[in-house]
Amino acid sequence: MPPAAGDTPIDRERIERLKRDDKRFVWHPFTQMKDWLDDDPLVIERAEGVELIDIEGRRYLDGVSSLWTNVHGHQVPEIDRAVSTQLGKVAHSTLLGLGSAPAIDLARALVAVTPSSVARVFYSDSGSSAVEVALKMAFQFWRQQGAPRGAKTGFACLGDAYHGDTIGSVSVGGIDLFHAIYRPLLFETVRIPAPFCYRCPLGERRADCDMECAGEAERLIDRHRDQLAAVVMEPLVQGAAGMIVHPEGFLSRVAAACRHNEVLLILDEVATGFGRTGKLFACEHEGVEPDLIALAKGLSGGYLPLAATIASDRIFEGFLGSFESRRTLFHGHTYTGNPLACAAALASLELFEQHCVLEHVALLAHDLGCRLDTLAGRPHVGEVRAKGLMAGVELVKDVDTGEPFDAALRVGHRVILEARKRGAILRPLGDVIVIMPALAIGRNQLDRLLDIVEESINAVVETL
Ligand SMILES: Cc1ncc(COP(=O)(O)O)c(C=O)c1O
Repeated sequence: MPPAAGDTPIDRERIERLKRDDKRFVWHPFTQMKDWLDDDPLVIERAEGVELIDIEGRRYLDGVSSLWTNVHGHQVPEIDRAVSTQLGKVAHSTLLGLGSAPAIDLARALVAVTPSSVARVFYSDSGSSAVEVALKMAFQFWRQQGAPRGAKTGFACLGDAYHGDTIGSVSVGGIDLFHAIYRPLLFETVRIPAPFCYRCPLGERRADCDMECAGEAERLIDRHRDQLAAVVMEPLVQGAAGMIVHPEGFLSRVAAACRHNEVLLILDEVATGFGRTGKLFACEHEGVEPDLIALAKGLSGGYLPLAATIASDRIFEGFLGSFESRRTLFHGHTYTGNPLACAAALASLELFEQHCVLEHVALLAHDLGCRLDTLAGRPHVGEVRAKGLMAGVELVKDVDTGEPFDAALRVGHRVILEARKRGAILRPLGDVIVIMPALAIGRNQLDRLLDIVEESINAVVETL
């Protein structure tokens, strides 16, 4: 989109300097820097609502909500006010040995809205850390039980899982492209085949299968019950795996198997939490109550880095004892429970009711579903998958067999470059085009975003 009249005048020299300095000084995450150095970087200056504005004044629809974080849009008056009011008090004080009013108020508010099984909020600052903390809590919880339960120190996780980039989180991950190189650093896990109907690892077909994936999960949990501390999984949708939407009932069967076998259930709602799938938390769709839940991304409305691991009372109480008993959870980050981030999160949570966010998501999810249906069946569209406002369009070489494109063709990447020309920021997962705008996106804006997705896919597909 060209700059709008009335936008700040363009300072060419500054633009060139920023682009040059970016290439010279910044190492970007999940980015092949050789490509980056050869390209013209897009540098964001500010944002309004669901639009990002670059240093040259061009506006883009934020189609991936600033990496799946943004909920109510950018520059939301209520959240801006909450952060600046808190800034007038204190920007940061530690939670190690001290309380902090925003952290206390937010913990209370979180416990009121999360599943009733979890009740104690442990803060950190990224989704990876929230999962890492959950793993350590589960591990230490069982270790502190003494023999024979003290041997329950292992974890089961889903194939293709993604839980973040710290070593523990990578250990329970399963995306080879990201994780294979680190294998020697990782701990062993029990792998439950991902319930990915489009590419079923058990060779079944959804139309006539008996959800063998759930049966396999039950068998594995049962077989390893004496060694398993917990099962860790994303409920309903495996985001980074390519927006894999699980068949209905899979989560509740895993949860029942965990309960039956005395294995803890850790739900990673880093991506699915805060309204993304149509309920405040995805596990609500199946009435599942985890022992530990990991939250981040949308927790602060997409404003500031904040994460939380919320534990059941049973787990929390397992850590109580005299100091000499060494039951302390020796974990904590410097910026744990940062007051500015907690103030933003509290304001964001309040807006869910005030702005009827979940009702709005229901409307949008319906619109999105209708538009995606029209995409399904187009050339090279292998499958469209969506739950709430979390969607992926998988592009494949051969729609009949599902054969993927040669990765070297970088089809997904080319689609997002086309989208950029048309005024939208997207980020693919391989050849899956992710559509994950802020929940506050308007219906017309969503329509425009989907027009751009469609045109961009067509533009690339025509060249193949
Ligand atoms: C399900 C899930 N868990 C954990 C993470 C890691 O979160 P972070 O990038 O904040 O460390 C992500 C990030 O995309 C995620 O999608």
